[in-house]
Amino acid sequence: MSDIQTTILPTDEPPLLHHAVEEAVRLLRSGEVVALPTETVYGLAANALDAAAVAKIFEAKERPTFDPLIVHLPHKNQLDTVAEVPAEIAQVVKQLSERFWPGPLTILLPKKPIVPDLVTAGLPNVAVRVSSNPVFRRIIAALDKPLAAPSANRFGSISPTSAAAVQAELDGRIPLIVDGGASLHGLESTIIRIEAGSPKPLITIVRPGPLTPEDLKPYGKVQLAPRTLLDEASDAPGQLAKHYAPRTPLRLLTRPSDFQPEEGKTYALLSLSGEERDGYAGLHDWEEVMMLSPGSGKLPEAAVRFFHCLRRLDELGVDEIIAEPMFEHGMGIAMMDKLRRASINKPKPVHGHHPQQRR
Ligand code: TXA
Ligand code: MG
Repeated sequence: MSDIQTTILPTDEPPLLHHAVEEAVRLLRSGEVVALPTETVYGLAANALDAAAVAKIFEAKERPTFDPLIVHLPHKNQLDTVAEVPAEIAQVVKQLSERFWPGPLTILLPKKPIVPDLVTAGLPNVAVRVSSNPVFRRIIAALDKPLAAPSANRFGSISPTSAAAVQAELDGRIPLIVDGGASLHGLESTIIRIEAGSPKPLITIVRPGPLTPEDLKPYGKVQLAPRTLLDEASDAPGQLAKHYAPRTPLRLLTRPSDFQPEEGKTYALLSLSGEERDGYAGLHDWEEVMMLSPGSGKLPEAAVRFFHCLRRLDELGVDEIIAEPMFEHGMGIAMMDKLRRASINKPKPVHGHHPQQRR
């Protein structure tokens, strides 16, 4: 699988963008896979209605076929081409898609037969979203087909938020990476399931992401699926307890005193702000301290840098990566979910005060 020449095409000048769009569309039309920027993370895209093309996604990622793919639409008004919207939730689906599409929201809905079973791993639902990334939008508009696109990493690994990170994951396995710069959000889309309810619809967050429970609250009663508490029998089969993991063992602390270094071992710190007063930066003579939001500890900035920082820490070759806990609010919910999955110690959520709690 490693004799494909992988080209990276930039898009930061109009003629370059034009060329990249043309190449991507040409390859996608011919049933190939192409890595594309989205506003969340980079995706590995193929024509969602072409099962043979979709099969190449699974092959390049070494992804097990029980793990279904998100379908991206050219436009929100095309939802009914791939999904059957049940009448009892039609209104809330309309409100949510009007408000958040294009954007980092993925909705699970009953699939139409036109969607190959490989895309949904044989499940009755299809996961649908519309990306707001301008390069992605141009490509999918020119192609005028839904695109199946999981994150462009090898299975179980860290999602890529830059073209270089895609290359590190998939070089030699795919023909083209379209470079759209750093991902805007840096975390994968929020995935929801919707049920009718009275007086309000019930919105279940199956995967936490850039859109927070607060963002969704005006549209229904919002709950986090139990799987966000590391339940393996999950709603999103790809959300295994061990996921998003760096190769280096990662330990997620609950409080500073949890850190018990062993003689002769090397440690690097994943810190929110890097400030000593948070109680973590000064705990040890760290090989490296990666700060998610240097000096300020802001969660949206932290999210943008999250996978990038994990990737850099993984490259150091230390014995363990030590991660500070984050306040589980807003984007902190998604980051803590990912840290718990990646961690070797799987700490339970604590609902209390973290010293670096600032927003
Ligand atoms: O932001 C995103 O969502 C990115 C960009 C590229 O769009 N995509 C992404 O895809 O994160 P992926 O495949 O890495 O994660 C999709 C998750 C997986 O955990 C998968 O199991 C779940 O969504 N999923 C997809 N289709 C599903 C379905 N029909 N039913 C239940 N879960 C589904
Ligand atoms: Mg993924």
